[in-house]
Amino acid sequence: MRKRTPVLDTDVVEGICSMNWRGLSKDSLIDAAWAYYFFSVQFRENLKIARRLFPEDSMLEELEAEECDTANLSPWRGVAGSGERLDHDEFMQRSLALTTLDERRVDRLQARGMKYLESIRTFDDRLRALSMASYEGGGLQRVFRAMLTAADWSDPALQAFRHFLIRHVELDGHHGFLVGHLNGHRETIPLWTEFERLLVDCVPDLAVKLRTTKANGEQGNTHEPPSLATRSETARPEQGLGTADVDCPITAAGTV
Ligand SMILES: [Fe+2]
Repeated sequence: MRKRTPVLDTDVVEGICSMNWRGLSKDSLIDAAWAYYFFSVQFRENLKIARRLFPEDSMLEELEAEECDTANLSPWRGVAGSGERLDHDEFMQRSLALTTLDERRVDRLQARGMKYLESIRTFDDRLRALSMASYEGGGLQRVFRAMLTAADWSDPALQAFRHFLIRHVELDGHHGFLVGHLNGHRETIPLWTEFERLLVDCVPDLAVKLRTTKANGEQGNTHEPPSLATRSETARPEQGLGTADVDCPITAAGTV
């Protein structure tokens, strides 16, 4: 892990993007998807807090409409039917249910994820609301692009997760516009740091490359944005297929 103290949210984002996404195995990538699910829960919670604190803010209202109770990720086989509306974290939760993991692994991921959420919920509401500026102001889009450099998505849960990421890369330019009037890029560093720790704890292999390059005195790995043109090759929504009534191996992480 980096030792340098971040002074901007972009420093932490850079650290996350420089992790070993390219070298992750399929299993490690599944663990990363689980970690991201818990991030997505706090994202929704933070957005709801922002809406409560700034009820007249039409930009945040529009952002909420594209993140919560929305069909903009539908359909996806086994996750959401055609036109089905759901919160994005629920899409993630149902996506994870497509691949069965052993109980011990689920318990480990669930425990770490809940610990992360407990930490996030100790931050004050203003800070959590301002996280929208940092998350949607380019930070998340960079993280999603780094995640998409992973090589092996040959798993039903990962295919759904990849669809989620690609759709978000497409949406986040517009979302950046919707939060452009907020300013929280410095204050929200602790929230990003919690996410960074969650990722490394759930997916130790993410830190392997960093340790190797540091030991060799090399630069960290860099990432080129994945080409969205490859979307149709491996992440194809299956029209008209699937419902959302699959059993889920994880407990919903709760609401605000
Ligand atoms: Fe989302």
